[in-house]
Amino acid sequence: MRRPTRSHSSRLFARARRVLPGGVDSPVRAFGAVGGEPPFIERARGARIRDVDGRTYIDYVMSWGPLIHGHAPADLTRALRSAAGRGTSFGAPTAQEVELGRLVCRLVPSVERVRFVNSGTEATMSAIRVARAATGRERIIKFAGCYHGHGDAFLVQAGSGATTLGVPTSPGVGRATAADTLIANYNDLASVERLCRAQRGAVAAVIVEPIAGNMGVVPPAAGFLEGLRKLCDRDGSLLIFDEVISGFRAAKGGAQAVYGVRPDLTCLGKIIGGGLPVGAYGGRADLMALVAPDGPVYQAGTLSGNPLAMTAGIWALSNLSAHLYRRLAALGERLADGLRSAAGEAGIPLTVNVAGSVLTPFFTAGPVTGYAAATASDTAAYAAFFRGMLRRGVYPPPSQFEGWFLSAAHSERDVDRTIRAARSALAEVAAGGD
Ligand SMILES: Cc1ncc(COP(=O)(O)O)c(C=O)c1O
Repeated sequence: MRRPTRSHSSRLFARARRVLPGGVDSPVRAFGAVGGEPPFIERARGARIRDVDGRTYIDYVMSWGPLIHGHAPADLTRALRSAAGRGTSFGAPTAQEVELGRLVCRLVPSVERVRFVNSGTEATMSAIRVARAATGRERIIKFAGCYHGHGDAFLVQAGSGATTLGVPTSPGVGRATAADTLIANYNDLASVERLCRAQRGAVAAVIVEPIAGNMGVVPPAAGFLEGLRKLCDRDGSLLIFDEVISGFRAAKGGAQAVYGVRPDLTCLGKIIGGGLPVGAYGGRADLMALVAPDGPVYQAGTLSGNPLAMTAGIWALSNLSAHLYRRLAALGERLADGLRSAAGEAGIPLTVNVAGSVLTPFFTAGPVTGYAAATASDTAAYAAFFRGMLRRGVYPPPSQFEGWFLSAAHSERDVDRTIRAARSALAEVAAGGD
């Protein structure tokens, strides 16, 4: 009897598991929350990815946010080839760092000085260090379900992959570290106020995703961000916006430009690197003056500001336009509306939260305004829906608690095809099939 032939992806996954934990370099990629095995991706262009077995998908992961201009734009790859030919890293200053730095300071309202690092995780860890040094205080307040990378201080009730895996508070985080991280509820100012009152004089910073993205997309309620600003001002704590997702995605100036609230420090990542590994933290000049070598707060990086990453970032930020944001928001609404009506036809309770070009269909009647409501979603139904979409040539995020990312390369036709796939996948879910 002939055994069914395994796909190339499946063989690669088996091989990967022998050398990489779980076969991947970032947990959510292993499809643990949705079942099945991940396709291994060979190439991508525009809004499409192709796996090693030759199947193509309309991509809504988009590398988890960086690719607002789509996969492999020709002008960007040309610029990268040219930059690589001149050297990939010098460990010495370059003109490109100055150019990207000037762009960031011009675009992001609160950023007067910026330091480039290699990931969002580095950005948030470093921003907290600055906040502690500036205030002489140890504690931080974060929000349940917000994710700020995998630094110890943030892996307490974290969102994203940590929520997906069911380990929002990771083993390995020291008790003392966890004790300095206080947890409030997103969109619930009273929960912050209670912590501030109990901890008066001890809180270095409140860190928040101004548009939550890692419990799925949850926009801030009216007055929430303004309220955080007031509480921080009253108590002498710093307000840190983690705009790793929302930076350059909510608007050119990020969520702080949209909501008109000025944080003291801002963390950036994803789009700022145009698909290469870049993060950044920045903010008030007096705070950033604490960073070495201007000041005593140590933070360094062998590959920080390397010319390839800077080239990609300059290209990505230089090609943002008001027209792009209008178009992306229209596509976001079109997709959200289509998913809502497809769910309505199938009789499946679905709440679609949308913030411009990023959205999450939560499998719950909603509304979803915070972590408790988000985690009330039917994750088994999402998993079945996900598998149905994948079979139909659409690649949504392999977790209920993530955003779907649109890009300049997505067309109305792509969105309409996605909605048709959703209609059929949701009908299948409603019928109990998979
Ligand atoms: C809001 C937010 N902050 C920080 C991070 C960490 O960034 P990185 O994965 O580049 O370390 C992420 C990653 O998804 C994020 O969404």
